[in-house]
Amino acid sequence: SVLEMFVDELPYMPKIQGFDVVNGSPKAKSLTIGMFEKKWKFHRDLPPTPVFAYGTSSLTATVPGPTIEALHGIDTYVTWQNYLPSKHILPWDPTIPTAIPATKNGVPTVVHLHGGIHEPASDGNANSWFTAEFEEKGPTWYKKTYHYDNNQHPGNLWYHDHALGLTRVNLLAGLIGAYVVRHPEVEGPLKLPSGDEFDRHLFVFDRIFYTDGSIYMNSTGNNPFIHPQWRPEYFGNVIIVNGKAWPKMMVRRRKYRFRVINASNARFFRFFFTNGLKFIHVGADSAYLGEPIVTNETLLAPSEIADVIVDFSTSKTDEAILANDAPYPYPSGNPVNESNGKVMKFIINKNQEVDTWQVPNKLIQYPSPDLSSVSQTRYIAMYEYTSKSGEPTHLYINGKPFDAPVTETPKAGTSEIWNVINLTGDNHPLHIHLGLFTVLDQTELVNEAEFKGCMLNNNDAIKCQINKYAVGKKIEVAAHEKGWKNVYKMMPGYVTKILVRFSYIHSNTSYSFDPTAQPGYLYHCHMLDHEDNEMIRPIKLIK
Ligand code: C2O
Ligand code: CU
Repeated sequence: SVLEMFVDELPYMPKIQGFDVVNGSPKAKSLTIGMFEKKWKFHRDLPPTPVFAYGTSSLTATVPGPTIEALHGIDTYVTWQNYLPSKHILPWDPTIPTAIPATKNGVPTVVHLHGGIHEPASDGNANSWFTAEFEEKGPTWYKKTYHYDNNQHPGNLWYHDHALGLTRVNLLAGLIGAYVVRHPEVEGPLKLPSGDEFDRHLFVFDRIFYTDGSIYMNSTGNNPFIHPQWRPEYFGNVIIVNGKAWPKMMVRRRKYRFRVINASNARFFRFFFTNGLKFIHVGADSAYLGEPIVTNETLLAPSEIADVIVDFSTSKTDEAILANDAPYPYPSGNPVNESNGKVMKFIINKNQEVDTWQVPNKLIQYPSPDLSSVSQTRYIAMYEYTSKSGEPTHLYINGKPFDAPVTETPKAGTSEIWNVINLTGDNHPLHIHLGLFTVLDQTELVNEAEFKGCMLNNNDAIKCQINKYAVGKKIEVAAHEKGWKNVYKMMPGYVTKILVRFSYIHSNTSYSFDPTAQPGYLYHCHMLDHEDNEMIRPIKLIK
């Protein structure tokens, strides 16, 4: 890329409080957040880029959108308003299952709060889309105002579009934003870096730009006779953080907290500092870890979140580049190059100073996974299908398209074991709505080809004697990924065993909603190009 790196400052996204304070006590709040087409400057030397952006007005809308700060136990209501034009700014593909308004007018959108534990009617099901002014609506559209009761553990969530077959282009266009649930009584005593200066989001994603500034999305598919536009993975060479390409940030010689969100369509990042600075993990996805874990690198699949402390007082240099060395596709694709191997630069003040922030030995303890409470064991197989000439045509979970009748119907409040069998060559980040899970282990399949042959014909792991094949080497889950997660990397050729809880953790409230209400939840691969074509399935909670 010809764009110069490290010229723009790391932006602060606007903050919106998700609660009111009346006579000193917090109260529920109703917000209205719109989606607007506008122009956004991704780099000093790049012409303004047409984007879709979230904000309270077109003028204040940003990419990523405003950070919503909610309080544990206080309701936030959001009316998501679609002000998008009649046509999309990026090419999309009508041959995959897609939200298409009858009038062919308008850009379908629907907002999902990723990591949220809330009623199904507010979850942003892919079929609950709507166009500008709610003129047209998808088959499971239910209501205008979404209700997030925030009755969950403190941590990092994010909101993003989820419209059927358009998720990859709607996020690529800019429909993403951060959401934090805070719980001051629980988090305050930890004395972690806090406040606007020391507690920052790093929203990282990759894009390709035309020289006129507009976002490049391929308009021809890898197999145009089947899918004129769809390709299995979008990778960009420009790395964006908080809406600026390769930004820089001036820091003091103190501890900072970074909530790092990988908002790429398909790119994995394996972050490291060029000067050896370390990551002190305090959280993963939406939950805290029980204790801090120090690592030299951090591998994040699309939509994974690392919550880390970086202590710049330990830096031996006055500059540090946050770099990336994850091949794409992960794990056995292209090696990174000069442009996508760099993320941002930290310029570190020379003066040592007194640091009042701490990283305590114990963080927040959650209940450990309880195997005796497991009510069901499931086998979830991931497949990639190719055309005769070998190009991927679509991906399925359990051999089923999205609209096949629901097969995952967990009981509200119970735990299940899911054995996720990855029969493809790529690592897929599996995300489960509502459910929080812990990864128990990953076991290699031996004679995978033979097992796969049986699965392609029978699609039944038990019948295909999974226990005969899932006997290869085991991979230990990294310590900082052993806590409660909502997305995890499913290794190719491995069975990943997870324990999922379809209930709240770290909350004294039980369900305040009818878990069986339509339209239900989803689980899917979070590589958006896979999710759209159709590595996605429904989940329906039952009582
Ligand atoms: Cu972050 Cu179903 O998505
Ligand atoms: Cu995938």
